[in-house]
Amino acid sequence: MIVIDDLAGWSSLRDEWQSAGYSVGFVPTMGALHEGHLSLVNRSLVENDRTVVSILVNPTQFDEQGDLEAYPRDLERDTLLLERAGVHVVLAPDPEAIYRDGYRYRVTEKDRSRSLEGAHRPGHFDGVLTVVLKLLHIVQPDRAYFGEKDWQQLELVRGMADALFLDTEIIGCPIVREADGLAMSSRNVRLDAGARARAAEFASVLQAGGSAEQVRSRLEGLGIDVDYVEMLDGRLLAAVRIGGVRLIDNVPA
Ligand code: PAF
Repeated sequence: MIVIDDLAGWSSLRDEWQSAGYSVGFVPTMGALHEGHLSLVNRSLVENDRTVVSILVNPTQFDEQGDLEAYPRDLERDTLLLERAGVHVVLAPDPEAIYRDGYRYRVTEKDRSRSLEGAHRPGHFDGVLTVVLKLLHIVQPDRAYFGEKDWQQLELVRGMADALFLDTEIIGCPIVREADGLAMSSRNVRLDAGARARAAEFASVLQAGGSAEQVRSRLEGLGIDVDYVEMLDGRLLAAVRIGGVRLIDNVPA
C-alpha cells in the first residue's frame, strides 16, 4: 500500500493504472476508521482491480469550529487498518491543496440539502458535495462507496453525480452496527460510558419504529436531546445530541 499526500504523485500513478486498464474503486473518508468504513473498503476490493481510500477531515463541512477540532484523527492507526485490509493507495492530501481556490467555488444543492442535516448544520452539504466532487475528479474512480448511515449525504451525492454527468457509479452500502445496535460512527469514540449507554438506547428506540412523533417523544422521555426525527422516502431519520456528541441514524420505516 502506498500513502500519497501530493496530488501530482497520485495523478501519475492514476495514469499508469488507466494505461494498464485497471478498474478503480474509491472510498472517501475523514479517517478515524471503524468497521463501517472497512465494509465499504472490502466491497470495493471485491468489485475493482484497485482501491483508493482518501483520508481528509474536510473543514468546509463543519459548521462548528469546536466540532472540527474535536473530530478524532489517527492517521497511523488508519493506515495500518487499510494496509491489513489490502487497500492499494491511501490519499491523504492537505486541505490547502484541495482548497487551492480558497473555497471560492462550491457545489450547492438548493432543495433537498436544506432539510434534516442541512437545516441543523448550515453549509454542511455545500462542503460535502464540493469535496466529494473534487475528490471524484482527482481520483477518477469507476465506483465510489458511501455508507447508508449518512442517508441524506448518499442521496445528495447520487443526485450530484446525475446532475453533473459524472462517470463514477455511486454505491450505497448498509449501516454496520455494534452488537447493541448503535450505528458505527467515528464520533462514537467521544462518548463516555454513560453517554455510550444512552446512544444504544437511541438506536433501539429508532429501530423499534413508529411515527416520527412517537419516536421523538420516546427519545425525549429518555432525556435525549433531539435535533430531528423525520420520515423521508420510506425511511425514519434522526439526529440527537448525547453527552456533547451529535449522532445520526436511520432505519427503513
Ligand atoms: O461521510 C464522510 O465521511 C464525509 O462526509 C465524506 C463523504 C468523506 C466527505 O468529506
